[in-house]
Amino acid sequence: VAGARGDEWEPLRSTTGAAWAEAALRDPLALLDDHAHLERKAAQNALGLIHRWPEGDGGVDAPSQGAALWARRLASVARDEVEHLGVVLRLLRERGGRLGRLHRNPYAARLRALVRVGAGPAELLDRLLVSALIEARSCERFERLAEHAADDALRRLYAGLQASERGHHHLFLELACLVAPRAEVGGRWSALLDEEARILATEAPGPRMHAGEPRSG
Ligand SMILES: [Fe+2]
Ligand SMILES: [Fe+2]
Repeated sequence: VAGARGDEWEPLRSTTGAAWAEAALRDPLALLDDHAHLERKAAQNALGLIHRWPEGDGGVDAPSQGAALWARRLASVARDEVEHLGVVLRLLRERGGRLGRLHRNPYAARLRALVRVGAGPAELLDRLLVSALIEARSCERFERLAEHAADDALRRLYAGLQASERGHHHLFLELACLVAPRAEVGGRWSALLDEEARILATEAPGPRMHAGEPRSG
């Protein structure tokens, strides 16, 4: 299991309930459209990190093998995400849906607003940790969707993606440890976990991967 190394990191601070999955699955085409855009953005994010930091930041572990593999590992994330995008687009099309032109993800935008822009290695650290958070939450939500999807194709999609996104979640944390000392990574991760749970709890409901829980009453 991809878990062994990742288990040393604190988990997400909140758990998504069944009501969220049931509500999201009532509009599977909208959910797949949102999901396709998230995969596209995840690929762009990984490529963007290579573009801006071709060799990491030359920080903690610069001469190590870890740093030498930096760009290749990010490239492998981008490749996985493009593959996921293809799978989601195929399902969307098979069901008569189409990819929307506009896509907003306020949850991710609010997380990115926490990045210490212009702060050198701290900016890169934050970008890696925000990426890890989004992967961790996506993984958690795929798990919930796999439990509640009524049809086989969707169940297989969500169950299959869960493992891949968990691997990415751990990979971004490992990359973060090339940028900052482990204790600093753990401390910042802990603070960002608090923020992530707070942000998600105040997101509007809707058929989106990172939507808030349906409001009762
Ligand atoms: Fe993905
Ligand atoms: Fe991912």
